[in-house]
Amino acid sequence: MIAKEQTGQALAEILAAYKKDRGNLIPLLQEVQANLGYLPREAMQTIADFLEIPQVEVWGVATFYNQFRLVPLGEHHIVVCMGTACHLTGGKLILEALERELDIKAGETTPDGNFSLERVACIGCCMLAPVTVIGEKIYPRMTPFKAEEAIIPYKRGYDEEPEH
Ligand code: FES
Repeated sequence: MIAKEQTGQALAEILAAYKKDRGNLIPLLQEVQANLGYLPREAMQTIADFLEIPQVEVWGVATFYNQFRLVPLGEHHIVVCMGTACHLTGGKLILEALERELDIKAGETTPDGNFSLERVACIGCCMLAPVTVIGEKIYPRMTPFKAEEAIIPYKRGYDEEPEH
């Protein structure tokens, strides 16, 4: 979790590079998210104050576009490619299997903060379709079953000795 002071400092640096123009709302949200990984409520308030627009307008834009995240990423971020090649080779089934297994929808983070799930357009390795990425690791030619198996080592307590 990012400390409040770090969030405030990162925000101040970002805002310093922008003019007070409501046309800058989306670029600002994008840059804040690129820096913090998501859009904390206090960041949206700060942006609203900076642009002198109602917070509800910032909230409206942030919730309208599915590129924006309102919750932090999980410790293990899972990306399921839904570009054409991956979609045609079963990307949707992989996403559904992971949504079922993690009990979250794409764009969400598990309540324990261990996993987050995201659907994206082509990630540039269509020859390996369908592709899923967990953290930094690319999983080629994924299937729903392989996806369920792939997340097992990332589950909390996986490596821990069973209690006696
Ligand atoms: S469509 Fe998935 S990597 Fe290109």
